[in-house]
Amino acid sequence: MSLVSEINRRRTFGIISHPDAGKTTLTEKLLLFGGAIQEAGAVKSNKVKKGATSDFMEIERQRGISVATSVLAFEYKGTKINILDTPGHKDFAEDTFRTLTAVDSVIVVIDVAKGVEEQTEKLVKVCRMRNIPIIVFINKLDREGKDAFELLDEIEQKLELRVTPLSCPIGMGYDFKGIYNLWEKNVNLFSGDNRKNIEETIEIKNINDKTLDNLISKDAAETLREEIELMEGIYPEFNKSEYLEGKLQPVFFGSALNNFGVRELLDCFIEIAPTPRPKESDSRLVKPDENDFSGFVFKIHANMDPKHRDRLAFVKIVSGTFNRNTPYLHVRNNKKMKFSSPNAFFAERKEIVDVSFPGDIVGLHDTGNFKIGDTLTQGEKMFYKGIPSFSPEHFKYINNVDPLKSKQLSKGIDQLMDEGVAQLFVLELNGRKVIGTVGALQFEVIQYRLEHEYTAKCSYENLNVYKACWIDINQSDPEELKEFKRVKSRFLAKDKSGQLVFFADSAFTLQMTQSKYTKVKLHFVSEF
Ligand code: G4P
Repeated sequence: MSLVSEINRRRTFGIISHPDAGKTTLTEKLLLFGGAIQEAGAVKSNKVKKGATSDFMEIERQRGISVATSVLAFEYKGTKINILDTPGHKDFAEDTFRTLTAVDSVIVVIDVAKGVEEQTEKLVKVCRMRNIPIIVFINKLDREGKDAFELLDEIEQKLELRVTPLSCPIGMGYDFKGIYNLWEKNVNLFSGDNRKNIEETIEIKNINDKTLDNLISKDAAETLREEIELMEGIYPEFNKSEYLEGKLQPVFFGSALNNFGVRELLDCFIEIAPTPRPKESDSRLVKPDENDFSGFVFKIHANMDPKHRDRLAFVKIVSGTFNRNTPYLHVRNNKKMKFSSPNAFFAERKEIVDVSFPGDIVGLHDTGNFKIGDTLTQGEKMFYKGIPSFSPEHFKYINNVDPLKSKQLSKGIDQLMDEGVAQLFVLELNGRKVIGTVGALQFEVIQYRLEHEYTAKCSYENLNVYKACWIDINQSDPEELKEFKRVKSRFLAKDKSGQLVFFADSAFTLQMTQSKYTKVKLHFVSEF
């Protein structure tokens, strides 16, 4: 098969949701359709259970599972589908943000009863910023929940999306009868049997067809007709190019647990979802069908065996073909590297592959050469852009507890930071090291891993920082910046790449600083 046909048959996407909305269940049902797994329950949830904060075994279990479910690839109707797993737990949000740099589209799962929740809002915002095409799946229709119109409204308001429903629920909860599919123009009746894998659908090309009355009752059919008329009146017609540009978001309804509405979602998905997209580098836009291979590291995972400190770097292929045992340029290190055992991922296993194509993810064994955001090419010196760090929310000084192990501690911290577990800052004033994380859980993960993987011991000391703000030196007024640096010298630090950062200790300080130093440009992400 040619490179272009390989590209055209690939769809690489992520499923995002607030925890418990049904991401794992939906993933599993998609895999069932692809024949990648045989029975429900095969996909392990990567959720950190409540109260797991101090349970190290739980953290280890979590790490194991997230390697196994990092990429789930399967074939469906000749399409190669790559699902990239995104942790739902908010402490791992940064991991999810990075994974979103490697997807070409997303499916957002929303619980019909809970509506739009906090984590969904945050994640969708990132997708919107990047114009990632989004499909919305409203789940758990077998339960009592919000009215369809109310939910669509909420999605428009809170997620700032422009929605167009492609299916319409018939009843809900106890009274849930099925779904009218506006995309395929058929009706799918709900039998509540979650063991069946393939649904039977009844084609109703014309909504006024009287057979509908017999199928779902006259009253329900009338209500459905009214609702569809209303939907068609209120919402814009589906338009594929608007969806692909991130300007219009189709919505489906269903019940993942009952395998209901999932096939419709998948069939529509493979038809409309984007094939691997071009990606901007620091020098040019790179197209997938270029002959030369290029890709970037979006995730690094420490291996399960603590005795061998090897890691797996996940590379998203952007262009060309990736071949085993072929030298590629690690641009940051300016070094050629060959990979003898690149891994490809399937539903429940990984295996060594000889060739991979744009859209695919390969897992490369790494002994510490890679960090997140690294670019690999066939020789061209360019960097892929767009894996920024966000301002952490928790900050602590990190201290060495065992003076004989300071080398191990430094190495451990360095490598964990390369993996993106947290961010390291060094205070300008006294050279003390500060760890910044998105969630409280990471501090325990770091402490535990330093001890078990690097034989180093650390302790933490609280530090009152509200936000880390990156200072844009080039866009700031030199005189004002000089004054700012003099006055704020106690609150300045450098991040790992040497960028200057200002630590604001409260929202109030930040506001005051911004209004006093209007010509000092501050950012809340590391890339600007
Ligand atoms: P997540 O990955 O988004 O966190 O959610 P997950 O799929 O684990 O689903 C969260 C809970 O919601 C699970 O129940 C799951 O069975 C349930 N669920 C998912 N889809 C549906 C649906 O369509 N209808 C209904 N009624 N429930 C659904 P749990 O009790 O937390 O876990 P479990 O013991 O069932 O695994």
